[in-house]
Amino acid sequence: MKTTIISTAAVLSLASSGLAQTSEQSEPFQLIIKSADKRIDGKILEACHEGAAIEGLCTVNAEKPTAYNTFQFNTTSGQTISDKNLGPTGLLTFELQADKLNESEPLTFFSDPSTNVALPLFEPTQTGQQVGFDTANCMHVQSSLDDTVNPPTSTKVRGLYRWYVCKTNFEGYVYETLAWVLGNGKPENPSCQKVDVVRQFEKI
Ligand SMILES: *[C@@H]1O[C@H](CO)[C@@H](O)[C@H](O)[C@H]1NC(C)=O
Ligand SMILES: *[C@@H]1O[C@H](CO)[C@@H](O)[C@H](O)[C@H]1NC(C)=O
Repeated sequence: MKTTIISTAAVLSLASSGLAQTSEQSEPFQLIIKSADKRIDGKILEACHEGAAIEGLCTVNAEKPTAYNTFQFNTTSGQTISDKNLGPTGLLTFELQADKLNESEPLTFFSDPSTNVALPLFEPTQTGQQVGFDTANCMHVQSSLDDTVNPPTSTKVRGLYRWYVCKTNFEGYVYETLAWVLGNGKPENPSCQKVDVVRQFEKI
């Protein structure tokens, strides 16, 4: 038991030194929806209010960069890249502009046990969901877990692109938002349409 405690402490101290590593922030970009569904193809994502300092990613018609549709990618320097086509992982960040301060918030995945549709939300926290952008600028999540086999195994790192646009309901806020499906099944929410999320750097 003691060794468990010691190793936990070691992991925590590693984690905090990890946080202290220099974070590199990318140039600002917009996120464009690509979909076979013509109604949403070409729309962009915009941070929309889903609670106090909590924003979802709502679909809106393409428009010029604003504070609400501009995002950045924070990566830690010196990280090991598992697959050069997938690139580094890091946090998708949004700068919430409030009266007295601007807060850089990471994207997190909110999941409710009742559904396999998780909701990407920007929240005031230090820890978010690690994402990546591949050589085609498609946003993805990297994973090496395969639990569809018995016993569950670790595979080569794969890029998962389980993004959908769905009508979602987060604590009464009903919008058409970006969503993520947990596992490799179909979303149980009937409004979901499969999409890709593509990063497009602002042209200055
Ligand atoms: C927040 O950011 C905006 C846009 O960059 C800037 O104009 C404003 O001064 C910032 N506010 C604070 C409190 O730093
Ligand atoms: C992203 O990186 C910038 C620059 O290092 C930092 O100011 C900001 O707090 C970071 N945001 C998050 C959510 O970690």
